[in-house]
Amino acid sequence: MSKLALDGGKPVRTKAFPGWPIWDETEKKSLMETLESGQWGLYNSKISEFEKKYADFVGVNHCILVTSGTTALVISLIAGGIGEGDEVIIPPYTFTATAAAVLMMNAVPVFVDVDPGTYNMAPEEFEKAITERTKAVIPVHIAGGPADMDAIMAVAKKHDIFVIEDACQAHAAEWKDQKVGGIGNMGCFSFQASKNLCAGEGGAITTNDPELADRAWAYHNCGRSQDASRYETYGLGANFRMTAWQAAILLSQMTRLEEQTKTRNENGVYLSEKLAEIEGITPARRDEAITCHAYHLYMFQYDSSKFNNKPREKFLEALSAEGIPCSRGYHPLYKHDMFRKPIGGIDYSKINLPVTEKACNEEAVWLKQSTLLGTKEDMDDIITAVKKIKDNF
Ligand SMILES: Cc1ncc(COP(=O)(O)O)c(C=O)c1O
Repeated sequence: MSKLALDGGKPVRTKAFPGWPIWDETEKKSLMETLESGQWGLYNSKISEFEKKYADFVGVNHCILVTSGTTALVISLIAGGIGEGDEVIIPPYTFTATAAAVLMMNAVPVFVDVDPGTYNMAPEEFEKAITERTKAVIPVHIAGGPADMDAIMAVAKKHDIFVIEDACQAHAAEWKDQKVGGIGNMGCFSFQASKNLCAGEGGAITTNDPELADRAWAYHNCGRSQDASRYETYGLGANFRMTAWQAAILLSQMTRLEEQTKTRNENGVYLSEKLAEIEGITPARRDEAITCHAYHLYMFQYDSSKFNNKPREKFLEALSAEGIPCSRGYHPLYKHDMFRKPIGGIDYSKINLPVTEKACNEEAVWLKQSTLLGTKEDMDDIITAVKKIKDNF
């Protein structure tokens, strides 16, 4: 047991963790109903049924289904009136789409560093970055852990800044009993294949504001107005509509979301309690205000100085060899190729945000959400594998 699998020893486990996506007859029935209805697009009732169901679930008045999480972000920026030269404050520890959506508006992404414990946008950094050109902020609920929405909303209100929650990884997550996606002006979700609620592809926009909902609806449906005829338009728009197939799958997937979220939460809390006992491992902080975590990812920090100075990449190799799938996660978003040239007077090559750099280059370790759908014994294998590496590195 003491010889690491990396060095030819016996791995802690060879059994696979639960796979993703999960489906059964529920999905098959729903897809067949869609097929036989002969209505495969927007006018299939499954679209409005899921919009209503998801709006109720998030606790908002409006939900608009679109083609992806990226589209949801783009349309929310449009609905919020964000355009050329406007500054939009975002964290750099996120998927590329958060920044790409801003660039697609010819707006200017302004990066602020993240909190060292949660990797979510640090509210004090957000406030420091505000200028007279700041129009919006996009807090990302990274890994499914809600950002500090009390502090972010307070700063946004003080400076009259439009808030778009990037909840693409955070279905069912709650900040003080309020589901994310219902706290800012608008919320954006992704239903892409890896997501906790998935249809292969797809996205949703959530809001309580009827005017924003109208603008978003029009934009996603070729500029049409909901109450005018098919060929009357108001404003620019295009076809960003979801298909009925996706809504059919989402209605079925939704029947399992709460149960799966409960399992991820139980396993996430258990893992954090046990992994925290290992010197050199720090689970991502779960703020007390988080009444439900989505655990789209389970993140922890690795301190190489407590692991015989072996770099994180070696730890990831060793953990994978022990039968625990894991990855390093993001690169700082401001270092991506789309920022090779200055935009709006910002030279991105000069940006170096220390918490983000450390997370990306040295310490973050990710496990997938489906890993957290395993049993308690599966979680014990993760803990055993980390301890084995600690003792034998
Ligand atoms: C934080 C974040 N924002 C936005 C997106 C974009 O979603 P999609 O891939 O559905 O366009 C994703 C997902 O991939 C994401 O993880």
